Amino acid sequence: MIDALDRDLIAAAASAAERAYCPYSRYPVGAALEAEDGTVYAGCNVENAAYPAGICAERVALVKAVSEGRRRFTRLAVVTRTGGAPCGICRQMLYEFAPDLRVIIADTAGQIAFDGALSALLPLGFGGEHLP
Ligand code: THU
Repeated sequence: MIDALDRDLIAAAASAAERAYCPYSRYPVGAALEAEDGTVYAGCNVENAAYPAGICAERVALVKAVSEGRRRFTRLAVVTRTGGAPCGICRQMLYEFAPDLRVIIADTAGQIAFDGALSALLPLGFGGEHLP
């Protein structure tokens, strides 16, 4: 169920997508990650002429938040033109901090493509508990 607060988070992700630096793919992505205290960290994809050096919107939002001292998160909104889902690397990085994260994926028209748990996007995610 998407409520007004969810719409605010989706709007923050949509704004971030407008700041995407994606001259190579021309596929803007925006993410808005809500920390447990309510602070929202936004991110966009930032590409590079050396393609693998680019980074996804979700990881930009996550590293901004973690580097500001946040480690617990409640919701993530992701907005793309087509309602595309976070890539595997982003799912894994988010899992490290928030295996129970709620992920909302929307397109730029506001259509919801997915609203559910990160664990549904990354079943059997690998966590630090597996390391001796
Ligand atoms: N991208 C993201 O920002 N998030 C994802 O999870 C999927 C892919 C970006 C990476 C690249 O800049 C562009 O979308 C096309 O792959």
